[in-house]
Amino acid sequence: MAVNRSVIRGVGAYLPKRIMTNDDFSRIVDTTDEWITERTGIKQRHIAADDELTSDLGIAAARQALVRSGIDPVDIDLVICATATPDRTFPATAVRIQAGLGITKGAAFDIQAVCSGFIYAMTTADNFLKTGLFKRAIVVGAETFSRILDWSDRGTCVLFGDGAGAVVLEAQPQHGTREDRGILSALIRSDGRYEDLLYVDGGPGSTKTTGFLRMNGREVFRHAIQKISGVIEETLVMTGYTPDEIDLYVPHQANQRILDGIAKRLGVDPKKIMTTLAKHGNTSAASIPLALNQAFEERRLSEGDLVLMEAMGGGFTWGAVLARW
Ligand code: ACO
Repeated sequence: MAVNRSVIRGVGAYLPKRIMTNDDFSRIVDTTDEWITERTGIKQRHIAADDELTSDLGIAAARQALVRSGIDPVDIDLVICATATPDRTFPATAVRIQAGLGITKGAAFDIQAVCSGFIYAMTTADNFLKTGLFKRAIVVGAETFSRILDWSDRGTCVLFGDGAGAVVLEAQPQHGTREDRGILSALIRSDGRYEDLLYVDGGPGSTKTTGFLRMNGREVFRHAIQKISGVIEETLVMTGYTPDEIDLYVPHQANQRILDGIAKRLGVDPKKIMTTLAKHGNTSAASIPLALNQAFEERRLSEGDLVLMEAMGGGFTWGAVLARW
């Protein structure tokens, strides 16, 4: 039966120029390169310049994705930006990205699911494209997490970085089988009971301030392995694939030990897991498209490959997208 599938036509990314190494952190908080490397796998992260906004990062990533897709911006009718660090409380960062790209038709809106934002945004775009409501979408993950970090809290400030990634999706008729190109499965989940384990302690509707990120790292770690493994297993059962049949895993980059734990639990060959943590840190909603972009640039993706993306973030929110490249 003919169906519309959301096919990935292009991927792009942008990282701010300024790099902060672990040694740089050891000069501002009581930490060491050894501690950060051993506990997280992170060696450095990029930090946006004062005059660089989340939308600027997103526009740069989207431009590169558009060029690679060969699609004219005027033919894009949906822009979704996943971010927890919008330029302003409103309007959505997505409309600023839309305007920056010269797109004036269709719709643009933000998705707020923190580190799972890109998975939520891909799932949302996929549903619009499958139903035929929109034809071509840009899905952006863009963050300036450096702006919501408590720079005196060594337990959190060393973990995050800034950046953006984007993909261009196009609805294309396919056969309705698991051999199709495009998104084959997209699952999103949440459980608000865990809000207090990872949150920002401010907001326009509560403190009238932006607030700072707060986290119970141990608990987040435990839930991440459980919840991400669960949603990957669900995706595999739904599509009938085994972990071995996935060509590349492109996970949200939170912590190397989380990635290792999931790989061990599911029996995934670590060589099949795209890892950018050492260079980018955790860039929240931007981490998956940044890793996807790196995989593309390293020629680790060929047409027909099965790519599994997954994430967990504040909320908790979590999810997975399986796509054929
Ligand atoms: N440098 C040196 N020591 C530190 C640092 C630091 N940067 N941060 C914390 N410590 C200390 C703590 O103060 C504590 O000291 P104490 O024993 O004297 O009290 C000690 O290290 C152990 O602290 P824990 O928090 O128990 O350390 P843990 O081994 O759990 O590692 C970490 C902390 C890296 C945050 C880990 O829990 C983790 O990665 N959790 C996952 C959180 C995550 O990835 N969040 C991202 C957002 S959610 C997501 O993307 C999935």
